[in-house]
Amino acid sequence: MRTLTGIQPSGTLHIGNYFGAMQPAIEAQAQNECFYFIADYHSMTTLHDPAERRTNTLSVALDWLACGLDPKHSVFWRQSAVAEVCELTWLIGSLTPMGLLERAHSYKDKTARGIPASFGLFAYPVLMAADILLYNSEFVPVGKDQKQHVEMTRDIAIKFNQTYGETFVVPEEQIRANVATVPGLDGQKMSKSYDNTIDIFGAEKPLRKKIMGIVMDSRTPDEPKPDADQNIAIQLLKLVAPADVATDYENRLREGGLGYGDLKKGLFEHYWNYFATYREKRAELAGNLDYVEQMLSEGAERARAVASDVLQRARKATGLA
Ligand code: ADP
Ligand code: TRP
Repeated sequence: MRTLTGIQPSGTLHIGNYFGAMQPAIEAQAQNECFYFIADYHSMTTLHDPAERRTNTLSVALDWLACGLDPKHSVFWRQSAVAEVCELTWLIGSLTPMGLLERAHSYKDKTARGIPASFGLFAYPVLMAADILLYNSEFVPVGKDQKQHVEMTRDIAIKFNQTYGETFVVPEEQIRANVATVPGLDGQKMSKSYDNTIDIFGAEKPLRKKIMGIVMDSRTPDEPKPDADQNIAIQLLKLVAPADVATDYENRLREGGLGYGDLKKGLFEHYWNYFATYREKRAELAGNLDYVEQMLSEGAERARAVASDVLQRARKATGLA
């Protein structure tokens, strides 16, 4: 079973990304043939600073490797290292109806947020379809916001196969319905765009300060709190602490006697310990960037082997030389 997904190098990763996307992807390595790439071409639609792109790309690579992506088992590469994807974008883009692209939510959302409209922003779903089709992907695990793009990929693949003969595997999206939305420091969904994140990797002092700064209500420590399960710190604690420890905190909060300060202190300690071994691994990798680069280039080699095959098939089918 071949699973493929792309990760945009769009900034510092947070624990919402980790529990929502990275942890399931890392666990999937036990059963699946995994293709995971850093979507640096995609980042060009919104990010125009070369130094930032370089830094983010490397940082995302370190995050994934530190958290358990095994580059010997999974194929892990920089999207732009296999430029074949751009050619495939043209082949399938020439068959993609304008109306299909005009219906894409992400284009409307991004332009509404003030991102300048460009050919790249509009054509983004075609590049994403090329990412998926170029590697014979069967399953594409994504968040709900990306569902429409995978559906468009299916439409494009079917249309191409009908026009030029069986060429592409028609993929299916995998939406993680069971992965709860991780709440941010303000109770909304944790997201880079809301400035409410807890980074996976960051300096101890500012992170402690952020967690201790979570705003709670004004009830006294002794007051029982029947709504303890709604508390943000309890919800986050359930992700980073052993189940019995989190339940114990929740019970003490419900019955009264646990102050919010102590709860937040507990949350910080468990969060900090949860990522301790990953943090060490990341520091080790950051001191050995040659190894990281080597893993990415070996990944690109393995990715290219599949990509050239599929691209040849598509070129032949369309009557190109
Ligand atoms: P952000 O909202 O911070 O910009 P992205 O849209 O880049 O995050 O998401 C990258 C991946 O992380 C996606 O698969 C997305 O579903 C997942 N993800 C992001 N935020 C959360 C969250 N708060 N809870 C669960 N999963 C999340
Ligand atoms: N568009 C995805 C996002 O913004 C990232 C992505 C690019 C992707 N190409 C992909 C995801 C192919 C799955 C498959 O999160």
